[in-house]
Amino acid sequence: MPTVLITGGTSGIGAAFAAAYAARGADLVLVARDENRLVEQAAGLRNRYNVDVEILPADLAKLPDVERVAARVEDAAKPIDVVVNNAGFGLHNDMLSADFSADAQALDVMCLAVRVISAAAGRAMQARGTGHIVNISSLASWIAQGNYSAVKAWVRSYTEGLAVHLSDTEIKVTAVCPGWVRTEFHQRAGIRTSKIPGFVWVSADKMVAKALRDIDKGKIISIPAKRWKVAAFLARHAPQSAVRMVSKMLVRSRA
Ligand SMILES: NC(=O)c1ccc[n+]([C@@H]2O[C@H](COP(=O)([O-])OP(=O)(O)OC[C@H]3O[C@@H](n4cnc5c(N)ncnc54)[C@H](OP(=O)(O)O)[C@@H]3O)[C@@H](O)[C@H]2O)c1
Repeated sequence: MPTVLITGGTSGIGAAFAAAYAARGADLVLVARDENRLVEQAAGLRNRYNVDVEILPADLAKLPDVERVAARVEDAAKPIDVVVNNAGFGLHNDMLSADFSADAQALDVMCLAVRVISAAAGRAMQARGTGHIVNISSLASWIAQGNYSAVKAWVRSYTEGLAVHLSDTEIKVTAVCPGWVRTEFHQRAGIRTSKIPGFVWVSADKMVAKALRDIDKGKIISIPAKRWKVAAFLARHAPQSAVRMVSKMLVRSRA
């Protein structure tokens, strides 16, 4: 049975990936900060799906913790077949604020940790000749919603670069670009969602089921809902002044 390591595997999209892979019979390694929640989540998955679930408490904003996760990914005695770099959070802050701690944490968790863990996975998978690296970007990567968009654009661009780098190998690489998913994300970041129309939202389970179809096909970019595909198409092909105007409206609607 394959083993799948998922960062942020205790909530929302990560928890949905964990359940979906466990339902396929995969063993799991779950990474997050909250150890109690990891223990609870692992017990639930073991009971429900009869799979092995290892927990790896780590704060991916801290480099020694990231290096510990990377070392687990590279442990040849316990190979990891799929790595899902999912851990992350929303940013709802003033771009001019003198306090840049949230931005620094976002860059550490959603860029640096993704780089370190993806590279460890790439090395380990290259040695075994197979594997899949999945990085969670966002539809926001095509618009201009502050540093969050910049961070997620980095994830998408980095992941495409990694796919190019590994294109002559059997290692697959996918950037998943979800739109609006009902998880703890918005509440945790203090983002108001009441002005976001209901039809754009998708449940984490549905989103992950669609993403897995793309991942199984080895797609490099996955936009896991038709309505988000339309939005991504417009963001890429509409005049950029219109995209910036929509970005401004979206940013204002969160306040
Ligand atoms: N929800 C959306 O609409 C949406 C849309 C596009 C992209 N995304 C992306 O999808 C990913 C998952 O988000 P979600 O919506 O599922 O959010 P969520 O429900 O808030 O879950 C976030 C997960 O990441 C973990 N995490 C956060 N900070 C961490 C850190 N410093 N170290 C280790 N783990 C950390 C959390 O666990 P602990 O708090 O215990 O650490 C939790 O398991 C994120 O990368 C997000 O940017 C979300």
